[in-house]
Amino acid sequence: MTTYTLRKAAADTVRTDAVVVGVVQSDRGVEVAPGGEAVAAAYGRSFRPLLSSLGVTGKAGEVTKVPTGDRLRSPLLVLVGLGPAAKLNLEAVRRGAGAAARALTNAASVALALPAHDGDHIRATAEGYMLGGYTFTTYKGTAAPGRPGEVVILTEAARGKQARTALETAEIVAEAAMLARDWVNTPAGDLTPAKFAESVTATRKQHQGGKISLKVLDENELKAAGYGGILGVGQGSANPPRLVRLTYKPRGAKAHLALVGKGITYDSGGLSIKPASGMMTMKCDMGGAAAVLAATFAIARLGLDIAVTTYAPMAENMPSGSATRPGDVLTMYGGKTVEVLNTDAEGRLVLADALVTATEQKPDVIVDVATLTGACVVALGERVAGLLGNDPALVDQVKAAGDRAGEALWPLPITAEMTEKVRTHSKIADLMQHNTERWGGTLYAAAFLQEFVGDHRWAHLDVAGPAFNEKGPHGYTTAGGTGFAVSTLVELARDLAG
Ligand code: BES
Ligand code: MN
Ligand code: ZN
Repeated sequence: MTTYTLRKAAADTVRTDAVVVGVVQSDRGVEVAPGGEAVAAAYGRSFRPLLSSLGVTGKAGEVTKVPTGDRLRSPLLVLVGLGPAAKLNLEAVRRGAGAAARALTNAASVALALPAHDGDHIRATAEGYMLGGYTFTTYKGTAAPGRPGEVVILTEAARGKQARTALETAEIVAEAAMLARDWVNTPAGDLTPAKFAESVTATRKQHQGGKISLKVLDENELKAAGYGGILGVGQGSANPPRLVRLTYKPRGAKAHLALVGKGITYDSGGLSIKPASGMMTMKCDMGGAAAVLAATFAIARLGLDIAVTTYAPMAENMPSGSATRPGDVLTMYGGKTVEVLNTDAEGRLVLADALVTATEQKPDVIVDVATLTGACVVALGERVAGLLGNDPALVDQVKAAGDRAGEALWPLPITAEMTEKVRTHSKIADLMQHNTERWGGTLYAAAFLQEFVGDHRWAHLDVAGPAFNEKGPHGYTTAGGTGFAVSTLVELARDLAG
């Protein structure tokens, strides 16, 4: 366990194994970032030539380690690039702190002399460092890289209430994102719908106390209540589906937010089976559920004045003699019928059931998060989520929450053309699940979901790209599950709570 503390101390006199200082790119070349002035002063006129001969550029993510001799009390100086000085925002600080955490695998104590003059910057520094240092070692025989026992955030504001709150918020949000990462990283064989639901139950018991209530529907209860979408997707698997509901209802709640997350614990495609290459990362297909569940725990721990009801439909999409066939018709929760044409478009089916359930409570806002379409990755790449919905003001509000959280969301439209196709293309059922024409697949999927939210204000995040990082780490984003959307949802909840 790493403990984080705030201290008003100078970076040149603090005694830790390492001191982290930011460097930025400006018109005048490389410069030390705010927070690191004392270190630059300790080196005096030799600082610039030193940076120059080390080849330090200040480029984002660049990490340079310098033995300090007797210039500083700490034996190691870590210079981390924060990018252009003119663009030194909270996300640049978060990413820099994350890069520093990844580079420091063997220091017992670390001081962070990064920009941390106010609460927001303290939170960014702490969150970035916590998330960047994340590892998933459950299945590794060898020991995890050493993480520091103590991380000291150096800040002028150390003794203020605002600073302490900022650090607490960072810990709660980062822990939630790491919980989501753990769930996503756990192999699908060990995180079946039943085990995922059990893990949510255990997490609630562990540290959330009685603030959150939980209900898990098993396959028999799902059948009795008519959850045809969740059951239809889950019926090909030996591991039966679940629907998990979390409720956080503080006294004096300012609004009611409903969250829905896609919880496909494994997506083989079902009978419309995926090629081997498309299946390799499909344990990540419950990333939306992981995000909404973890965010709910964070919102409760923060004690935000907002009621949250969260639904995670969990199913494993497998081919077998009992699987749903292309051409089958499912009767969804609430009674609408859907013709299934492609069993690999399963996410929208489990989400439809959960969205209808969510509307029964008449929440003010519904937000769903789902690794829904490969088309969204084609459109926006691996680091940007698609943002769709039925209310432009809500879409703007979610986008702004994402900007504050450092999570890139980009609006896409739900066009009348797609809505028309969803409603008219089936000759035998109310709705058509799948468009045989692949263009605009993200829009079609969202148009399908829209049929299940009634006139509730609703936004949809397609996180097929950013939920899972198949490549190397960058900034505070580690390999594997990213916890994407947790921070955005917490920001949105803060906003709605006023
Ligand atoms: N889970 C996938 C989407 C996905 C793709 C997530 C890549 C993460 C990375 C989803 O269930 C799926 O298979 N979608 C199909 C839809 C198609 C059949 C309309 C797709 O995108 O190919
Ligand atoms: Mn699929
Ligand atoms: Zn899927």
